[in-house]
Amino acid sequence: MQEPIPLEIADGGESAPAEPMEDLQSLLGVEECVRYYPPDLRHVPESPVVFAAGSSPVPAPLRREIDIFVDVPFCKTICGFCPFNVYPYNPTIAARYLEGLKREIRVIKELHDFSSLRVGTVWVGGGTPTVMEEEFLDELLTVLRAEFDLGHAHEFTVEIKPALENLTDAKIELLRRHDIRRISMGVQSTQAHQLKILGRGHTREEALDVIALIKGEGFALNIDMMYRLPGQRVDEVRLDIDDVVGRGIDHMSWFPYVPHEGTSLARRIDKGRVDAQAGRADYRSMFEAVSDGLGAEGYEQYTPYHFGLTDRCHYHVGRWGLPQRETLGLGPGAFSFFNGWIYTNQHDPEKYHADVVAGRPPVLTGKRLDRAESVTRFAVLGVKLFEIDFATFRTATGEDFASYYAEEIELLASVGLAEVHDERLVCTMDGRAFNNDVASVFATDTARRTHHPQALDYMRAGT
Ligand SMILES: C[S@@+](CC[C@H](N)C(=O)[O-])C[C@H]1O[C@@H](n2cnc3c(N)ncnc32)[C@H](O)[C@@H]1O
Ligand code: SF4
Repeated sequence: MQEPIPLEIADGGESAPAEPMEDLQSLLGVEECVRYYPPDLRHVPESPVVFAAGSSPVPAPLRREIDIFVDVPFCKTICGFCPFNVYPYNPTIAARYLEGLKREIRVIKELHDFSSLRVGTVWVGGGTPTVMEEEFLDELLTVLRAEFDLGHAHEFTVEIKPALENLTDAKIELLRRHDIRRISMGVQSTQAHQLKILGRGHTREEALDVIALIKGEGFALNIDMMYRLPGQRVDEVRLDIDDVVGRGIDHMSWFPYVPHEGTSLARRIDKGRVDAQAGRADYRSMFEAVSDGLGAEGYEQYTPYHFGLTDRCHYHVGRWGLPQRETLGLGPGAFSFFNGWIYTNQHDPEKYHADVVAGRPPVLTGKRLDRAESVTRFAVLGVKLFEIDFATFRTATGEDFASYYAEEIELLASVGLAEVHDERLVCTMDGRAFNNDVASVFATDTARRTHHPQALDYMRAGT
């Protein structure tokens, strides 16, 4: 199902979308959750090279801690809006997947010395890991604990779906036994008609029951919500906000819906069977409603999509904030920023399996970042946290942000997307809402002085 030229703006540690993205331009203006940079992974590496020692541009002291993302690419049913690399679950493919995962870890540990690398955070997602039977989930978590130094991990998250059958007492006990303290669950909306359009297979009440259950069991909880859903207006977004606040949910992610090509919901929208999602101006009002609504309830918004009640998510901060941490992605379709490379694993579970059985890292495609790309990556992803501190940028890249990006800073200020305060670039409310646009201004090609077309549009608009 997958051709080897992905992807989104590429970072580390996420399940890769199942269908290739066109390029950065296709994502701009729609405010897709930017996860990756650079987008061009056309270079297909000799996969063992990816793990060769001494390749990392990350300074040694910063290299001591990495994050791990484990992609479990299965769900009970596939939602019509979801572009991720997911397959309908059955126990036979889960057993094969686990065998492959163990081999993958063995293969990369033979090529790369992990002895001095501690794990900062672990995210087991994809997919819906809890769709697996207890013994498989137990095996997966046992393998991770045995193979990596998780003793210092700040955070260990497992993704679930709001289905009580996936969250039996035995599974809750199992998560606790493995010291999993954080659960992430997609809710998406609490409006019955939206849940139906999205094909979620759960009701508002089921989602709220599972939220109460998880909180009652003492786990920290993130929920994923989507807005700018088909036909949705800002008042309806407010109903969703009102419905989920006040329940003690520790962290929330609010993603503007993007109709991804190849998904059934996008096709239904194209054919006019389902109302289209709001345009840019209404999106802006919705973004503000989400921002203000959650802010009033004590949530801190620290990226365009993420809100913490007491804590930010270490995993998200690690992959975007400066200096960005490396993420080792494991499993079919997992994305990595590791050892100086960005790369994606084979999406197809069978190709993944064939690679690891042959003793090869299952790398589908990727590239080694050159210096200019590394610097750019820091800016493009770093600005997702709404500001770039010049001193931190200098420590991470050796570059003086103000002079390296003098032209871009001037441009962002002239169009009202960002301003400089006290040696920091700070996004305005427009820059927060249209944060991909800010990122695009920094996203120049490897020659660095060739601006991305989106940046050129801004320059023209600004003159
Ligand atoms: C990897 S999914 C996993 C969540 C979990 N399996 C579930 O559905 O409950 C992570 C999140 O990405 C978001 N997402 C998926 N498709 C999207 C789309 N087309 N546009 C915007 N956000 C999307 C959803 O909020 C989803 O919960
Ligand atoms: S359950 Fe989650 S990961 Fe699975 S298809 Fe639906 S949104 Fe995607």
